[in-house]
Amino acid sequence: MANSQPPPSSPRKTVVLRWGHRPQRDVRLTTHVALTARALCASGFVLSDVVDPNIELTVKRITAHWGGTFHFEMGTPWKKTVYQWRQNGGVIVHLTAYGENIQTSDVLNRIKNANRDVLVVVGSQKVPGNFYSSEVSDFNVSVGNQPHSECSALAIFLDRYFEGKELAADFDGAKMRIVPRVRGKEIKCDAEKTLNG
Ligand SMILES: C[S@@+](CC[C@H](N)C(=O)[O-])C[C@H]1O[C@@H](n2cnc3c(N)ncnc32)[C@H](O)[C@@H]1O
Repeated sequence: MANSQPPPSSPRKTVVLRWGHRPQRDVRLTTHVALTARALCASGFVLSDVVDPNIELTVKRITAHWGGTFHFEMGTPWKKTVYQWRQNGGVIVHLTAYGENIQTSDVLNRIKNANRDVLVVVGSQKVPGNFYSSEVSDFNVSVGNQPHSECSALAIFLDRYFEGKELAADFDGAKMRIVPRVRGKEIKCDAEKTLNG
């Protein structure tokens, strides 16, 4: 699971595991979780236990156009991913409204000081009770203690973990790049063509 654009502060892998995806109702949100992971410089995304080709198609299409080497995997049983992650020496961060508050506790420092690869687990429907236990999670982290969304929790966690540097990352091999402008839209394509809008 390589990543071509890790923020300078983190040479480690950071992979997001999405648990509990329901193909009938979660396609859009799971896609947004995956795209958030990619845009905020996670190394990869695991859609656990289920296969949903629509999500894979979207994520791979976005990566092909906008660059980077984002790893996408689906259908792997979550227990297998967790087991292998631990075997390889990584830590597991479960994002949950019930965890240690990222703002008022020192949990983020402890995660950073561990200096290991990080698997970030986000739920969808109610997660199994053992997700909170030390058998699964090294850290239960809340992004505020109000229930909200896996997408917002993930974005804030990654932004704090990478200290904002991920927002300035340049994605290798991008065919298209947005040029920030005060107004309007500018996209540079790899053939040096500039599209203005
Ligand atoms: C919409 S919530 C569903 C919560 C579910 N009803 C339950 O009781 O666990 C889906 C996921 O969003 C994430 N989440 C929601 N609020 C959060 C918060 N305040 N901090 C961290 N993660 C949060 C968690 O990963 C959670 O599993």
